[in-house]
Amino acid sequence: MATPGFPYQSFPKGWFSVCDSDDLGTDELKTVHYFGRDLILFRGATGEPHVLDAHCPHLGAHLGHGGTLVENTVRCPFHAWRFDGSGRCVEVPYATKIPPRAALRSWEVFEGNGMIMVWYHPEGKPPEFQIPLIPEWGSDEWSEPQRREFKVRSNPMEMAENTVDDAHFKYVHGTNTMPESTSEIDNHILRVTSISKVDTPRGEQQSRIEIASHGLGFGCTRFTGVIETLVIISGAAIDEDHSVTTLRFMVKKLGNADAERGVGKAFIHEIDRQFSQDTPIWENKIHLQRPVLCDGDGPIMQLRKWAKQFYLN
Ligand code: FES
Ligand SMILES: [Fe+2]
Repeated sequence: MATPGFPYQSFPKGWFSVCDSDDLGTDELKTVHYFGRDLILFRGATGEPHVLDAHCPHLGAHLGHGGTLVENTVRCPFHAWRFDGSGRCVEVPYATKIPPRAALRSWEVFEGNGMIMVWYHPEGKPPEFQIPLIPEWGSDEWSEPQRREFKVRSNPMEMAENTVDDAHFKYVHGTNTMPESTSEIDNHILRVTSISKVDTPRGEQQSRIEIASHGLGFGCTRFTGVIETLVIISGAAIDEDHSVTTLRFMVKKLGNADAERGVGKAFIHEIDRQFSQDTPIWENKIHLQRPVLCDGDGPIMQLRKWAKQFYLN
């Protein structure tokens, strides 16, 4: 893994976003690369997304390069074998018998909160938890989400640690005060509450941030206090060295579209700024299994204890 000293070899198990819902049309065959492998995506008859391994079991062609969609199946560009959404080979046009092992690996898919997610398990085991639907997503009371995507040479756990690293907010991001975070492990969910003091035109106010992380691939962050906002965070390992993180930011409608846009713009600007400040740290740090921590640090070891459950080795 990209970070020297990182103790785990495998990618973590969990649900990971591989495509935005809007980015996969009904007649589209898409290729993505996550977990160090190529995957293809397409939608079936009723619009349900399918995610399959990209390479044909026949002679290894890449179905995403020249493959075509034919009646809810994908046809290989090399010898025209066809596979359905479950990965099963349904036609070999020049054979009398379909070989029994002719199948592509199909991935367990969840579509919700504007994204298509797959369940990843290093040993191919079935999902061990579910991802919640975020009630604010698609609600009239909330603004249209604004999206930002960041690719970083790091891994999902290192980056997750950032949320409970209270001191870095002051010294990396230049906030006036340091948030105070507490965390609680609830099986696969980590709940973090951070209280910050913020300067506003009406004087100093408290802002409260609640983060619920459902594994290392999905989280929802709610900001209350000065203004109500929400960020849905998703991320996945691209390969052993790189991860992608996507943030979808929404603001509770204020009844004033200009004001909402203003808040949205300021927040996106802040996210861009913080990511650009964190990235050189993430990309050059090492992982210390026994860091020397002090009493002002956030619940870093608790985050690591929670994250451990997603790694097999
Ligand atoms: S390699 Fe796909 S049909 Fe031959
Ligand atoms: Fe940060």
